Amino acid sequence: MATEELHSQCAGYTLPVPNVQSLATSLDKSSQIPERYIRPEAKVDPVAHTNEIELPVIDLAKLIDPEFSKQEAAKLHLTCQEWSFFQLVNHGIPEELIKGLKADTVEFFNKPLEEKMAYKQNNDGDLQGYGQAFVLSEEQKLDWCDMFYVMTRPIAIRNMKFWPTSPSTFRDNIDRYSLELTKVASCLWQYIARNLGAAPEVFAQLFKDHPQGMRFNYYPPCPEADKVIGISPHSDATGFSMLLQINDEQGLQIRKDGKWIAVSALPNALIVNLGDVTEVLSNGIYKSIEHRATINTENTRISLAAFHGPDNSIMLRPLPEVVGDGKPNYGSMSYQEFMKAYFEQKLEGKNILDMLKIQN
Ligand code: OGA
Ligand code: NI
Repeated sequence: MATEELHSQCAGYTLPVPNVQSLATSLDKSSQIPERYIRPEAKVDPVAHTNEIELPVIDLAKLIDPEFSKQEAAKLHLTCQEWSFFQLVNHGIPEELIKGLKADTVEFFNKPLEEKMAYKQNNDGDLQGYGQAFVLSEEQKLDWCDMFYVMTRPIAIRNMKFWPTSPSTFRDNIDRYSLELTKVASCLWQYIARNLGAAPEVFAQLFKDHPQGMRFNYYPPCPEADKVIGISPHSDATGFSMLLQINDEQGLQIRKDGKWIAVSALPNALIVNLGDVTEVLSNGIYKSIEHRATINTENTRISLAAFHGPDNSIMLRPLPEVVGDGKPNYGSMSYQEFMKAYFEQKLEGKNILDMLKIQN
C-alpha cells in the first residue's frame, strides 16, 4: 500500500532496533545490560510508595441495565475526571475468545526469531509489523520491549501481510476480538458523549468505522529491571485505548498527582484509558494521562493495547457542545497532522498535546 494511503494510526518512521526478547534470553542473572537500555530517570522519578492500587471498576452490564445505568454512568463520569483510567468488567467479550487470543499471542512470541521476523516492520513509513516505534535517533535510549502492531479497522486498511498465519487460529481470533471491541467502544462512547452533554450521534460520526490498531507488547524479564523502562512515559494519541493483560502479569504505572503509581487489574478486565483526542474533544474536562510500563527480574509480561481513534479526516478541536458559551482550552488541528507530529517525536509525556493548549 502506498504511504500516502496509510492511515494516520500506522503512518510513521522508526529506526530498526535489536530484538529485546533475544537479548534477554542471552543474558543471565549477573549480566550487565547494554548502555542504551539504561534509563537514569527510572531511578529518580518520584514513585508513590504505596502498594499496587487496583484501578476503579466500571461495570458495562450495569451501564446498559436501565435499573443501574444512571448510577453507573455517574460513576463513569467521575472516574473519567479523576483517573482517566479504569478497568471495565462484564464487557461481554466471550471468555473462550479471550482465552484463545491469549494462547495464540503467547505461542506467537514463543516462536523462533526467524519465524517472527517474517512479519517485521518494513521501515517504509508504515509502523505495522514486528519491531518498535518512536525510535528516531541512534543515540536515543531504548525501551525494554518488542512490539507487534497491526491496523485492524477500518477493515479496508488491513494489510494481511502482517497478520500471522501461525498459530492457525490467530488471525481469526484477532478479527473476532477486533469486532467485539468495536461493540464495547460504541457503547462506551454513547455514555461518554452523554456525560459530556453531547449527542451520542456526534461521537458515532467522529469515530465512524471504528479506526482501530492493535499493539502486542512483549516485555521480557531483565537482570537489571530497576534500570530499564518497558514503555516510556506517554499518553495515547487516541480516543481511548483498551488494554488486555495477556498473561496477567502486572507492570503498568500511571502518573497521578505528579507521582508514578503501580496499578493492577482483574484478570480479563479491559483496562481503559482516555487518550489525547478525548482530552481535546472534552475541552479538558477529561485528561489523557501519562502511563508507562515497568519490568521485573523474573517474568515476561505481555499486553495487548487496542487503540480507538477518530476518523482519519476529522478536525481535532473541543466540541462546541462542550465549550458552550465558555472558552476553548485547545486550538484545532487536523487529526492527520496531529498523528504525524506524535510519531515524529520520541515518546515523551504529553508534549504533542501541549502544542494545542491555549493559555486562557
Ligand atoms: C501502550 C501502553 C502499557 C502496557 O501500548 O500504549 O501504554 O502496560 N502499554 O503494556
Ligand atoms: Ni499507552
